[in-house]
Amino acid sequence: MINKPAWVECNASLYQYNTFRFDYAAEYLAVVESDAQLIEALAWAQANQLVITCLGGGSNLLLQGDVVGLVIINRIQALEVTVEGDDTLVHFGAGMVWHDCVQWAVSESLWGIENLALIPGTAGAAPVQNIGAYGVELKDVLETVRVVDCLTGELATFDAPACQFAYRESRFKHEWKTRYIIVGITLRLTRKGAPTLGYGGLSKLLTDTASLAEVFATVCHVRQSKLPDPTKLANAGSFFKNPIVSQECYEALKANYADVVAFAHGEQWKLAAGWLNERAGWKGHRQGNVGVYDKQALVLVNYADRKADGLRQLEADIQHSIKQRFGVVLEREPVLLGD
Ligand code: EPU
Repeated sequence: MINKPAWVECNASLYQYNTFRFDYAAEYLAVVESDAQLIEALAWAQANQLVITCLGGGSNLLLQGDVVGLVIINRIQALEVTVEGDDTLVHFGAGMVWHDCVQWAVSESLWGIENLALIPGTAGAAPVQNIGAYGVELKDVLETVRVVDCLTGELATFDAPACQFAYRESRFKHEWKTRYIIVGITLRLTRKGAPTLGYGGLSKLLTDTASLAEVFATVCHVRQSKLPDPTKLANAGSFFKNPIVSQECYEALKANYADVVAFAHGEQWKLAAGWLNERAGWKGHRQGNVGVYDKQALVLVNYADRKADGLRQLEADIQHSIKQRFGVVLEREPVLLGD
């Protein structure tokens, strides 16, 4: 075994670091709370030729085996505010709990992220999959992302266009995955905002004159009524992305299923995967210790498994059935980790 500093744990369980509550081990584990600690951890990993994996809240993660190398739990805290006229630039440390950031913004009368209330995870994880809900995506308010370069240990800043955001996508999921670790994000929020009510039935619950606090409270209420609280029932939010299909594919589906739920997405259509799963009979289905949530068929839940095999099987069974029935491929949203 290699020499390790006291702040590195060896063969540590990742059970408490993933919201699916699967129990696999990290070869080495370090929890970091500042940029300096992160840079120190990276230097130690590099000196010992260890692969590095960085986790935030572990809420968009499907852990399916032990993880070799050093797992870094990012708990970096920071809150910096710069006022620019009606706009306010707010820098959140990557390890801040995302919902706390939203709550803070609402308490400061800053509009922009209220529709993203109660999304589990940390601020630093938010740009990775460009979190989105109720017609707002992080990219709409993101100014810059601050990172540490794993190769050099140096800090760098990227603006939003450089991150190539798309629906549940960014470069942090691909070519930047092993290169950079996010240490903070800066958002452009505003005191002169207005409600965004175009999606998810919010316009039925609120009017255009709704206050910031009302929008926030309504989003919290809608989410709590549909989505399981990961601290009570293990899950990772939407398990599948809503598939984006061609006009032709959409029309063919519509001809067979008049009630198909879909949203225009440029010249394509975004299908509600929850609808596909429900129509195929998966809603509320239980298979061993895992299942499909009974109020939202897009969410898979883990009742009691310690390992991911049952969930991977359920994933494959659902994908197969949706392909057979609708000719549509469902893509997993949470990131896979572990051998
Ligand atoms: N639907 C069903 N049956 C279901 C679930 C949904 O028929 O079991 C249909 C309903 O018609 C519903 C429509 O699908 O109106 C859309 O459902 P919902 O508004 O619940 O949103 P979603 O498309 O299922 C997406 C995001 C969520 C986000 C909501 C609200 C993805 C993969 N998921 O879900 O994000 O909270 O919109 O904006 O894009 C997450 O990523 O973890 C997540 C929860």
